[in-house]
Amino acid sequence: MFASILLLGLCVVFIIVQLKSRRPKNFPPGPAPLPILGNILHLSLENPLKDFERLRKSYGNVYSVFLGPKAAVVINGLKAMKEAIVTKGSDFAGRPQDLFINETTRRKGVILADYGTSWKEHRRFALMTLKNFGLGKNSMEERIHGEIQYIIDALEKSIGQTISPQLMFHNAASNIICQVLFGKRYEYEDEFIKVIVQCFTENAKIANGPWAMLYDSFPIIRSLPLPFNKAFKNVETCQKLAINLVNEHKNTRVPGEPRDFVDCYLDRMDKEKEDGSTFSEAQLTMYALDLHFAGTDTTSNTILTGFLYLMTYPHIQERCQQEIDEVLEGKAQASFDDRLNMPYMQAVIHEVQRIANTVPLSVFHCTTKDTELMGYSIPRGTLIIPNLTSVLNEEGQWKAPNEFNPENFLNDQGAFVKPEAFMPFSAGPRMCLGEGLARMELFLILVTLLRKFKFIWPEDAGEPDYNPVYGVTLTPKPYHMKIQLRAAQ
Ligand code: HEM
Repeated sequence: MFASILLLGLCVVFIIVQLKSRRPKNFPPGPAPLPILGNILHLSLENPLKDFERLRKSYGNVYSVFLGPKAAVVINGLKAMKEAIVTKGSDFAGRPQDLFINETTRRKGVILADYGTSWKEHRRFALMTLKNFGLGKNSMEERIHGEIQYIIDALEKSIGQTISPQLMFHNAASNIICQVLFGKRYEYEDEFIKVIVQCFTENAKIANGPWAMLYDSFPIIRSLPLPFNKAFKNVETCQKLAINLVNEHKNTRVPGEPRDFVDCYLDRMDKEKEDGSTFSEAQLTMYALDLHFAGTDTTSNTILTGFLYLMTYPHIQERCQQEIDEVLEGKAQASFDDRLNMPYMQAVIHEVQRIANTVPLSVFHCTTKDTELMGYSIPRGTLIIPNLTSVLNEEGQWKAPNEFNPENFLNDQGAFVKPEAFMPFSAGPRMCLGEGLARMELFLILVTLLRKFKFIWPEDAGEPDYNPVYGVTLTPKPYHMKIQLRAAQ
């Protein structure tokens, strides 16, 4: 009897030791993992950002955590980040393929595509198509101004009143990228835009939320009817809408005369009929959704953060308006080039992006081969978490890392300067491919609206809450704004 109990005990210990996750040799240090659970108890499932900062204080800028049995390396601070995603860019340019988000997007599209031919060709195609559709030229500016007019109309109806701006800015950002992709915009009340914005905003929260972390950590729960299934349903809904739009394009296009991104893609498919092409209709629908999603939730949450701070730092709002009035005097509308004469406005927009920290953990990367970082060895296929938050508020990189202060981007002469640690779009080969479009949108929308309106924090709104809601994107807590028309400029 005693021998049997001893044997059973030994078996249990053996199984636990076998299940215990181990760090490979010379792997970055980190907290001791539990068998099966890994370090999941060291991280808040709701919002792990503070935990990542705490672990950085204990283990340094490069450390590791186990998400269930899977080891991940968290990269913090400018020096380590640059070494990884810029200097050794291709070593760190992969994307993990076994996460919840890969399942939701059915391994199609560009954002989550692994480092390889399909990703490279699709990335190059998007950059070229965005350029051809006028990024940097007037047509993209005109499209953005066109959409701004709808925002102005909505705001003018609310002069003297208090409004909730969340949906309006999401709709506007969605429409701008939608015009590039599908050649059309939607009225803010249209069912298409309502559904798509709702699916995008929900999935941006589910994708990094507690259920996704549990899904990634414990494969055994993946087929259960748990709340993460909502994300799959949302993607299905969006995919149906995208398929309809692609079909519409197929029926109405004139080959060789593209009207928008989808037409360009269909032209490219015509050219690449042979087997082995990475361009396909299934790719196209998910790719269009990828770009639509990436271009909606990011830009709109940055703008929302901007107005939250501009309303509650009214002296900064006024100084922006002064500069805008001076530089645009006599001009009908702002152009993107006007930024070169607006150092203060530029500093404010960059400071808004720094403090908004819109994509706090970037999109997860993965090593493409055995490599090294800051003296540690990191095997091929390791999940990499680039903690952009730790760079955007790193002590020593900013004059005032922990406050909203445009001086972070101004030198002693009042000229605009951009510190190296400004990387809200990440850096290296996987850097955001919509940066150019996003920067143009942020500038034209903020400048045009600040020129025309004064934005006021309502008297009865209480103290502003600057703590955002966590997700793939950080979202300011819902707030209201009061609108006044400024005197004619
Ligand atoms: C303020 C707005 C935006 C911010 C802060 C932002 C930020 C980011 C970040 C941090 C990444 C991850 C980069 C990495 O993995 O290293 C990313 C990737 C990406 N972004 Fe953006 N983004 C913004 C707007 C846009 C827009 C407007 C588009 C649409 C054209 C877009 C399209 C993409 C795509 C396609 C990727 C994946 C790139 C790849 O994997 O090669 N983004 N973005």
